[in-house]
This record gives sequence, structure tokens and C-alpha cells, in this order.
Amino acid sequence: MNQDALKTLVGQAALHYIEPGSIVGVGTGSTVNKFIDALATMKGSIAGAVSSSLASTERLQALGIRVFEASEVDELAVYIDGADEIDHAGHMVKGGGAALTREKIVAAQSRHFVCIADESKLVTTLGRFPVPVEVIPMSASRIARQFAQMGGTATLRSKNGAPLVTDNGQHILDVAGLQVQDPQAFELQVSQWPGVVTVGVFALQKANVCLLGASGGVKTLVF
Ligand code: A5P
Repeated sequence: MNQDALKTLVGQAALHYIEPGSIVGVGTGSTVNKFIDALATMKGSIAGAVSSSLASTERLQALGIRVFEASEVDELAVYIDGADEIDHAGHMVKGGGAALTREKIVAAQSRHFVCIADESKLVTTLGRFPVPVEVIPMSASRIARQFAQMGGTATLRSKNGAPLVTDNGQHILDVAGLQVQDPQAFELQVSQWPGVVTVGVFALQKANVCLLGASGGVKTLVF
């Protein structure tokens, strides 16, 4: 099975976690796109979705799924999202699709985080994938220097020759060369630096379950 087929498999498997009549928290990325396509097959049984990005909102609405603002609804039963990396305790690196801030907000609003990923995302220690950090533009150089002191190399993410601008109007630093031994301590530390909007380590909002697409089928990891 190729990676695309594995993403389809876990996207469909996530439907088992959807409570009838509920509003579903929906993440962002190519794996989540497969989930959104699967969710459309049961759109008559859910009230709608809260989305973590403009891209997911567009896809949900195109398939006829109602999208609510996060601030319009209370706690969500479940949040379904992908990851760039996940470790054996459910800590993740996220933000490869630049949606980390809204992803963390919707995850925090949800009782249960179900991560959907193919097995290439499972790691022992977070950091092989450069850690995305959304920053206020005027703070980017100083934050890059702070990461350098930790042994990381921060690069401003660009798109079409200009700095990428997130859905929130901010920039992204991708920090390579880190070995995140204590994800929760790392998240707490970096989140306090002035100018950091969101760090792409999800330890406080870690996954409760990971549906991991492997050649033998879907493995369910419970944390
Ligand atoms: C989006 O900002 C990310 O957090 C995604 O969840 C992550 O990049 C996984 O994306 P794929 O499913 O496309 O690999």
C-alpha cells in the first residue's frame, strides 16, 4: 500500500470516533483531507464541524458540511488531525501545513484528540522534522537566535519567494536540529518567549489515540 492509500485508510477509520449528532473538530493536511472526504459520507448524521484552517473550511463546505466558528460552540467531543511526527507517548510535532495555531486552539477545545497518520510519522524522539513555530514577524530574528543557543537552526518559511503568511497574518520559523527530549518542558519554555504565537510541539494537547496506517492495516495506539 502506498502512502496515499494509508492516509485514506486512517481517514476512514477515524469515522468510528464520531458521535452521531455532534460537532466534529477537524484538523488540516493531506491526511485530514481523506478524513473530510470520508466524513462527507455521513454528513447527515453530524451537526457540523469546527475547522482549524481556511483550507479545511473550504473543503468541508464544498462537501456540504456546515462549519461553525470555534467561539460559537462549547466543548467538542473529538478532534481529528494529522501530525508531522508522533512519539510513543502521543506527543506530536505539527504545523507542516502552517495551521498549528488554530489546530492547537481546536484541540484544546476537544475532549479527545485522535491523530491519524501513516507509520512514517512515528518517532522515538521529536525533532527530526523541523519544529514549526508561528511568530509575530518583528520577533523572528531574535527568536531564531534563541533557538541557535539551544542548538537549533531556524529558517523563515517562504512561499513564492516571500515569507509565508499564516491564516492569522503571522510568519513561521522551521527549526531544524533539535532533539526534543522533554516535549512538555520544551512547549512550556518556548511558548513564553515574547513574539511566539504557537510552538508546533503538542505535548499539553497531545493525542489520546493514534490511528497509524501500516502495510498490515490500521494500528491503534492508545496513550
Ligand atoms: C498542518 O499544519 C499540520 O499540523 C498537519 O497536521 C501535518 O502537517 C500533517 O499533514 P499531512 O497529513 O499532510 O502529512
